Amino acid sequence: MKEEIQQIQSDALAAIEAATDEATLEQTKVDFLGKKGRLTGAAGAMRTLSKEEKPAAGQLLNAARGAITEALDTRRAGLQDDADRKSLEGLDLTLPGRPLPSGGLHPLSLLKDEAIQILRRLGFALAEGPEIETEYHCFDALNTPPEHPARNEKDTFYFDSGKLLRTHTSSVQIRTMEKDAPPIRIIAPGSAYRRDEIDATHLSVFNQLEGLCVDEDIQVGDLKGTLEFFFRALFGEDTNVRFRPHFFPFTEPSFEIDIMLHVEGHDPKWIEVAGCGMVDPAVFESLSLKRGDDAYSPDKITGFAFGMGLDRLAMIKWGIRDIRLLIENDARFLSQFS
Ligand code: PHE
Repeated sequence: MKEEIQQIQSDALAAIEAATDEATLEQTKVDFLGKKGRLTGAAGAMRTLSKEEKPAAGQLLNAARGAITEALDTRRAGLQDDADRKSLEGLDLTLPGRPLPSGGLHPLSLLKDEAIQILRRLGFALAEGPEIETEYHCFDALNTPPEHPARNEKDTFYFDSGKLLRTHTSSVQIRTMEKDAPPIRIIAPGSAYRRDEIDATHLSVFNQLEGLCVDEDIQVGDLKGTLEFFFRALFGEDTNVRFRPHFFPFTEPSFEIDIMLHVEGHDPKWIEVAGCGMVDPAVFESLSLKRGDDAYSPDKITGFAFGMGLDRLAMIKWGIRDIRLLIENDARFLSQFS
């Protein structure tokens, strides 16, 4: 019995060693350890042994089973390694990996988000309106007379229907006031369209951000304080901000805002960044007629409004020389901002 078990074990180990693929290895396992396998057969023969012989034979059987199982496992792992190595043949693991470039926000989005954040801190909520506007909301309600140059077909895109692509987001101010009573504190970022010749500083579509604040006792000081705070938060605490008298049909008094621009190698210079003013009482009067109530009676309330081009602010903030870079989607340009 002893010799037989040893013979089976050495036959099994030799067969395992000789197996060169998993199927053969599996067959070898069946041949020796399977239900009808040789070692199983030997175990069955234990029945014929005497009581004294059984323990030693049992030990031998267990040892043989352990050795064969271990050899099977080792060989299986070895074959797996060989297969792995083969499938990697010709593959140069030292080559650099394929780059996975990560995206980033467009500079205009970055700037818009920052501007909104600053103005939210001052209590301004976001408002929206359509880009295809009526002449009424874009001009008439904003005290802009029919002969005003901005209403000319040379400056503004009209549809056959008489509607137009809004030339500024001030129309959102009118729509907000038609809907809601004061106090109002809103900002309206969005696209505006003008028939400009396209060059380094003009496109026919640009991104505007306008704001409106209406309440009892709003004064020029509130306008100044708000916009100074805004431009210093955006361009740095020591930014010089200047208000220059100007004219807009819908505000009185009106101002243009300049900030002092410092560019290395150049003298500092004032550069225009926004328009603003106190809402003209004529705007409130026509609004009151439309609403049919006195919520916006110019005797009770005042307000200020402002508007700025985000494209222009982005160009100033990052020293971008050509506005067209903002719409060309050249990754070499855009990746500098992410
Ligand atoms: N709507 C003006 C423009 O587009 C900007 C502006 C807004 C001026 C609000 C004054 C008040 O140029």
